[in-house]
Amino acid sequence: MCGIVGYTGSKPAKDALINGLSMLEYRGYDSAGIAVLDGLGGMDVFRAVGLVDELKQLVAGENLTGVTGIGHTRWATHGKPSRINAHPHRDCSGKIAVVHNGIIENFNELRSELIARGHHFASETDTEVIPHLLEEAYQGDLKQAMLAILPRLQGAYGLACVHVDHPDEIVAVRKESPLVVGCSADCAMVASDTPAILDVTRDVVYPEDDTVVVLHSDGTAQFFDATGAEVHPKTVHLEWDQNAAKKDGYDDYMDKEIHEQPRVVSDTLKGRLKDGRVVIDGLELDEEDIAALDRVVIVACGTSYHAGLVAKYLIEAWARIPCDVEIASEFRYRDPIVSPSTLVIAITQSGETADTLAAVQLARTYGASVFAVTNRLGSRVTRECDGVIYARAGLEISVAATKSFLAQITALTLLAEYLAQVRHRFNRSQVRMFYHSMLELPQQIQQILDHPEPVRRAADLIGDATSALFIGRGIGYVVCMEGALKLKEISYVHAEAFAAGEIKHGPIALVTEQTPVVAVAVHSPTREKTVSNILELKARGARVIGIATEGDEEVERICDATIFIPRIRSTLSAITASVPLQMLARLVAIDRGCNVDKPRNLAKSVTVE
Ligand code: M6R
Repeated sequence: MCGIVGYTGSKPAKDALINGLSMLEYRGYDSAGIAVLDGLGGMDVFRAVGLVDELKQLVAGENLTGVTGIGHTRWATHGKPSRINAHPHRDCSGKIAVVHNGIIENFNELRSELIARGHHFASETDTEVIPHLLEEAYQGDLKQAMLAILPRLQGAYGLACVHVDHPDEIVAVRKESPLVVGCSADCAMVASDTPAILDVTRDVVYPEDDTVVVLHSDGTAQFFDATGAEVHPKTVHLEWDQNAAKKDGYDDYMDKEIHEQPRVVSDTLKGRLKDGRVVIDGLELDEEDIAALDRVVIVACGTSYHAGLVAKYLIEAWARIPCDVEIASEFRYRDPIVSPSTLVIAITQSGETADTLAAVQLARTYGASVFAVTNRLGSRVTRECDGVIYARAGLEISVAATKSFLAQITALTLLAEYLAQVRHRFNRSQVRMFYHSMLELPQQIQQILDHPEPVRRAADLIGDATSALFIGRGIGYVVCMEGALKLKEISYVHAEAFAAGEIKHGPIALVTEQTPVVAVAVHSPTREKTVSNILELKARGARVIGIATEGDEEVERICDATIFIPRIRSTLSAITASVPLQMLARLVAIDRGCNVDKPRNLAKSVTVE
């Protein structure tokens, strides 16, 4: 979704803005723009449809020496992608410029009012009401003008604005949209997400809703609550290394992130076993409460929803607590059965997904304990839940979730073990046994990554097919759902996952000699059943790619291509079996000339409904 960035400091703002916008490209966008104050009472605004590179070319020859500016990548909601609709937007005087991420829900009403009072609108966007409101409220102090208009804005916003009369200052504010602020010795920056400011600092502040931030070019920032009183939010140090937002020699971020998975799984496990017991800091529920739970409900979207489905298998099998997994956008509009003895778990990599956050808010109205599994420190979900388990995947830039998925399942596996231990379903030696099996996972993932040849053969089998089927049972079925999502989102091949036992009830009618089928048939109590399903598909001419456990000659014999994964307990197999499917989706996408990191129409953080 949209990204905003602001820079005020001692160097020309242009470079920091363009660089910051490039780091926000992963969020998904269709146009980009910047506004730079010239320090002499003027402002230069550049906007371009398409990539940040187009904008970069547009400003390349310009002598922009101003040290304060704001920038934006726009993902169209109100008005088509065009130069006119691209941000920054200005007021009638041209002195104020605004960039905005989110939606102003009452923009129609505000726009009519403003037009009636003589304002001229240049775009179709909801955002443009903001500079005009600021223009009316401004009496020499931009922060005060911002505070004055906030009660008029309904909806979600992360926004930043500048005024030509304040060439050393940016004013920013957020409500339900992400915003991060970072300062260094010679500049202050604000952005929708941390990658945009990582070059400047790793000590950041995530302001609360309705906090107005004033950034100064001397590298300081002040924070004010909605009444105008100064507040002092805490600074968070990000552990990410300097290469977190760089490709680091890989062709694309997805490849880098897939290869980081051994370390990610090991980081997620680190320090979470003490004296034969799983410890999960941040859960904020005491053991008595956990023992009293009668139900778990998981809410999430996309890949995070799939992580939730893996968790369901484990929570029910180990802790024996009934667990339902719901797509957040469905849950939020239902009348769900949730009570104070329900534990609601919101899974979200970004911590900013609008539907998941709405589901959290709904669950809280029923008095349920709600906690989050997220990858992003300071994200909104961390503020809205009772407890948080961090997935520790580090910064994920590619739109396709890979390492965050493995980190989520690893964290959720630990949580399932924890629930089993608290409810006396697992004793210390069982907990130790599972944890020690999990410690083998990083090395097993590495082994898969070190042998990409079978994945190459599998990608060739998919070739130019327009559709692919995925089949599996139990956790293997969830692995298939995630594998199919990866394939469709980055290669645009239509892909569907089916529970292998269901194919005879309809989907097998789709199978022809042109149909590639990915079958997850790893060692598990239902492996033999899946093998029978593979034979049924082979009998109808399907090209079958098997995902099997090392040494499984039978699967190798009946499939057209086989990718082996090392032997592991079947309950942990999603963590390894998902890896070749990520690699497969990426290779198919590259073969088709797709941009794997920025699939069409998609955004990394879906911050609007
Ligand atoms: O940040 P979240 O985990 O809440 O995001 C949920 C989905 O939007 C996300 O998983 C999406 O499906 C990914 N593009 C999948 O690769």
